[in-house]
Amino acid sequence: RIVPVILSGGSGSRLWPVSRASYPKQLWSLVGEKTMLQETALRGVGENFDAPIVVCNNEHRFLIAEQLREAGIENARIILEPVGRNSAPAIAAAALLAAETDPDAVLWIMAADAVITRPDTLEHLLPVAATAAQRGRIVVFGMHPTRPETGYGYIEAGKPLSKLPEASEVACFIEKPDAATASELIASGKYMWNSGMFVFSARTLLKEMETYAPAVLGPVRQAVEQRTSDLMFQRLDAASFRAAPDISFDYAVMEHTDQAAVIAGDFGWTDIGSWDALWDITKKDDGGNVSQGNVFLESVAGSYVRSDEILTAVVGVENVVVVATRDAVLVTQQSRAQDVKKMVTRLQAAG
Ligand code: GDD
Ligand code: MG
Repeated sequence: RIVPVILSGGSGSRLWPVSRASYPKQLWSLVGEKTMLQETALRGVGENFDAPIVVCNNEHRFLIAEQLREAGIENARIILEPVGRNSAPAIAAAALLAAETDPDAVLWIMAADAVITRPDTLEHLLPVAATAAQRGRIVVFGMHPTRPETGYGYIEAGKPLSKLPEASEVACFIEKPDAATASELIASGKYMWNSGMFVFSARTLLKEMETYAPAVLGPVRQAVEQRTSDLMFQRLDAASFRAAPDISFDYAVMEHTDQAAVIAGDFGWTDIGSWDALWDITKKDDGGNVSQGNVFLESVAGSYVRSDEILTAVVGVENVVVVATRDAVLVTQQSRAQDVKKMVTRLQAAG
């Protein structure tokens, strides 16, 4: 059986003003009726799965516990971080906790902010990943790339694993290349995107971390050993956890390990990182618009317009994003939707 591990630590700043540090995107229902956290957690329910582990910031514990309860998931173990230190420490904490019960537990790491439109395909690939994981592999799922995106990891597949041809060695893993490199990687036709989902045994992961990221593993191990816990929450020891460096799993482990394996999967994966990405995957009206909430459009095309509350009227524009919440309004070109992050950084600096 597989232990689902859900990472819910990002703040989703490009989806401002809906996504806030205090209420990040994965806790909203941006696509379906359920929130992205709930959709993600429900993917790991059933006879093939053990109780899930959720890793999140201490601040979000009640929101997350409540959303899991609402989704009918009562057995989750929720690891609370005193501060975000990125995905490497979060994954290390989950692996250490799982290893206490079973050092050979197979973990399935999921980001709480991805949408998967063909979960059946993924369901068929998971047992393959689990088999590779039991053989000591760190498995990633490779997605067919469509543009020279600089925010993703790139994977080059090597030769197929023996007796498991659906999975291949990873010849090369490059996290977040610069624009020129990303273009070369796409042009070569040899690379896939990293979906940010990983499957491995706790034992393998801890061994690879020992080798490539001891500075992460040491403090996190101490934080797990000195944690306080009750029925639901596992509170990491704050002083120890703070000593861990801020580094993503991709840089800390995936770029270095020689145990990586990749499975190409066509399960309709999208990373909902920005408003244009959300527009992209949502059903549009005849004008190519997505409108949600208290919104009126006149002669508008190719746009995303959302208002949670105040009446929002948009007239005579194309390819824009307008998002209104109770206390903030965003207006931008679709093509500049990535730059919302810069604005959020400025707003934070301005307090
Ligand atoms: N608990 C916890 N604590 N989770 C965290 C933290 C943290 O401090 N930081 C990030 N996460 C979670 C995020 O919530 C998300 O679910 C996942 O870890 C990945 O982090 P992101 O910050 O969204 O990473 P990214 O999008 O820049 O890059 C990763 O995902 C891409 C695909 O979406 C990488 O794995 C790339 O290689 C990959 O292509
Ligand atoms: Mg992301």
